[in-house]
Amino acid sequence: MPTRIISYKDLGLVNSRELFRKAIKGGYAIPGYNFNNLEQLQAIILACVETRSPVIIQVSKGARKYANQTLLRFLAQGAVEYARELGYNIPIVLHLDHGDSYELCQDCINTGFSSVMIDGSHLPYDQNVALTKKVVEYAHLYDVTVEGELGVLAGIEDDVASETHTYTQPDEVEDFVNKTGVDSLAIAIGTSHGAYKFKPGEDHAIRLDILAEIEKRIPNFPIVLHSSSSIPQDIVKIINDNGGRLKDAIGISEDQLRLAAKSTVCKINIDSDGRLAVTAAVRKALNEKPEEFDPRKYLGPARDALKALYMHKIINVLGSNGKA
Ligand code: 13P
Repeated sequence: MPTRIISYKDLGLVNSRELFRKAIKGGYAIPGYNFNNLEQLQAIILACVETRSPVIIQVSKGARKYANQTLLRFLAQGAVEYARELGYNIPIVLHLDHGDSYELCQDCINTGFSSVMIDGSHLPYDQNVALTKKVVEYAHLYDVTVEGELGVLAGIEDDVASETHTYTQPDEVEDFVNKTGVDSLAIAIGTSHGAYKFKPGEDHAIRLDILAEIEKRIPNFPIVLHSSSSIPQDIVKIINDNGGRLKDAIGISEDQLRLAAKSTVCKINIDSDGRLAVTAAVRKALNEKPEEFDPRKYLGPARDALKALYMHKIINVLGSNGKA
């Protein structure tokens, strides 16, 4: 456990407080994009600089394990400089996605993260409150913002897996927010992690009525939507046309997400769509040129496809273009 505090402020990063305040006022949401390698981060920064969007770059526990936490932090620090080099100083938040323990959150706060999520949603209510409050108390010593979660999201994401979905109960949100002091709240209204969010023939709608009820209980409080990939069918087709085998992959409607972004939802997490875009571009590039073996020749097109996807989300779904 590092005792040395690397302050995110020294790295040129910002916490999410001011960004969320502006997003609620302006009726848009800030992208929560995950990264675990160089090309993903390049695509995120290129897309956000070009659209003048603020951004939350997210690292999960699995990403820290895969890419090494020190390298990821230096990449995030480099992203600030990179954006400047590209000609625009966009606000960048470095966020821990789905922190599952106090120790993990503390480690991230000590090593340059400006925001952490403590996900105690699988715990009994009182234990979730106690754990979240403990993280908030530590984080706020360093002006790091904290996202909590109520309700359980189904699906699999890195190390986080749950088979059942439990909707957030509007009756609990005010008490949770008051007792814990969290800066934002992730809710479960029918989204789920991964590429198989619904079964064919199932109702694909998310519960915007529950979101509206939550907004009434905690007006102007920043809400976060996880698991918000839309699983674009044209991208799934490219994967399957080039040797992939994704059957019945179904996501969240972008129209519904756009409506949510206009409410107090001020952060929307999208990861699976990016994974699909990369996979489609890599499969296509290798299929078209089987003699190719320079990774830049297939990771380059993957980065371009990812940038295009992220720009589309910012402009047509989140509405965060021009808000940096
Ligand atoms: P998707 O799997 O829908 O992209 O969700 C990602 C996410 O919520 C990260 O926390």
